[in-house]
Amino acid sequence: MQFFIDTANIDEIRTASTWGIIDGVTTNPSLIAREGRNLGETIREITTLIDGPISAEVQEAPAEAMVKEAFSFAQIHPNIIIKVPMTFEGIKATKTLSAHGIKTNVTLVFSVPQALMAAKAGATYVSPFIGRIDDFTASERAGSDLVQDIRIAFDNYGIETKIIAASIRHTQHVTQAALAGADVATIPFRVLLDMIEHPLTTKGLAIFRDAAKK
Ligand code: G3P
Repeated sequence: MQFFIDTANIDEIRTASTWGIIDGVTTNPSLIAREGRNLGETIREITTLIDGPISAEVQEAPAEAMVKEAFSFAQIHPNIIIKVPMTFEGIKATKTLSAHGIKTNVTLVFSVPQALMAAKAGATYVSPFIGRIDDFTASERAGSDLVQDIRIAFDNYGIETKIIAASIRHTQHVTQAALAGADVATIPFRVLLDMIEHPLTTKGLAIFRDAAKK
């Protein structure tokens, strides 16, 4: 499973890039707004830090306007992936962008039929939001169940659209995404930090450190 970092914070991306295990970056309007910087400028800087897919989201609008904005983002760098909302206008935009060889990530996916429609439009990626589904339902596995169902549906038909498990809240979501067959997990920086930790690793290191002193 590929690891993308889900942030628009340059310091977080710079730190994570030094680990050598981050395959790409996803941003969204909320993450960009949090940084208080211009989207184009932020995306341009991210391309200097990570050599992999970098999602930049177009504003919800009629398809023609989204396509126009997408073309301007796509010119920034060949690694740019256009994030498109899961609406009929988004589907139309995805179809047009796909015909022009521009890669897309259809976002705000909450069902298998939505994922199938996005794939049919030629989406490179679909992003089911597992954390928001778990927030919305009593089950702690509803989000990863959706990823698993999309995996089965895509595999049934040889659909090559990749599944990004998004809206990850904690390390257990990363485990669930991997077991459900997600191609990618896009992970907030604080969850990436948590992923390296285990109390028995910490304890084991302390034991080895003591032994080494002797
Ligand atoms: O990649 C989508 C993700 O950023 C949404 O996360 O935490 O706003 O549900 P969240």
